[in-house]
Amino acid sequence: DDKPADALFLQSKHVVITAGPTEELIDPVRFISNKSSGKMGYALAEAASKMGAKVTLISGPVNIEAPKNIQLVKVQSAKQMLQQVMNIINECDIFISCAAVADYACSQVSEHKLKKQNDQPILTLELIKNPDILATVGKLPSKPFCVGFAAETQNVEQYARTKLVQKNIDWIVANDVSKEGIGFNSDDNQVTLISHDKTMKLKKMTKQKLAYTILETVCAVN
Ligand code: CTP
Ligand code: CA
Repeated sequence: DDKPADALFLQSKHVVITAGPTEELIDPVRFISNKSSGKMGYALAEAASKMGAKVTLISGPVNIEAPKNIQLVKVQSAKQMLQQVMNIINECDIFISCAAVADYACSQVSEHKLKKQNDQPILTLELIKNPDILATVGKLPSKPFCVGFAAETQNVEQYARTKLVQKNIDWIVANDVSKEGIGFNSDDNQVTLISHDKTMKLKKMTKQKLAYTILETVCAVN
């Protein structure tokens, strides 16, 4: 069992977690999205719940079953995810931003299915930046304790540390997504936990075990 000895660390805490990808519509049958299975976010939700927390999981479209005893809020787009996060953020003690939020959405969503233009080999889509959900929470005057994730393929620690500072959060989980067998869609993950004064390189482990480890580390300082 991956459950730690001191299982009720998070009793009386409300933990809000975002998970999965977001989908940004191009037309009624197409969207832009990110690679994300949702496994890490759902593992965090399950672990937080088993550690005694009240859990709200705000999830983009994924193919996994939600853990029991948590509140699941399903969304599609980044804007919907932001709206659901802001609805609940004032009651939240710990915010964990695990979602792979699409950085851009289409500037216009076509009402009807786009037709292929046989005489035009190039299609140009205009994209517009999505709101940064985690940075928005990080700017709140009475913000919760905030944990972010950083998916990187190079300069992993350095980029993650920059995000920690720029998003004004407490911890960031740095994830090298260029390696096979960790990160995207895999059952295992290998990350480095980074705070303003600590760096903890963890060994490769299951996402379930990692979920407990992340929460225990957060609890130790919260
Ligand atoms: N995030 C968010 N809203 C966005 C983009 C990212 O809440 N619109 C959150 C993610 O959930 C994650 C953290 O910000 O916790 C970092 O996401 P990441 O994609 O690694 O970083 P970005 O700031 O989007 O920068 P880039 O993709 O250019 O590396
Ligand atoms: Ca991004």
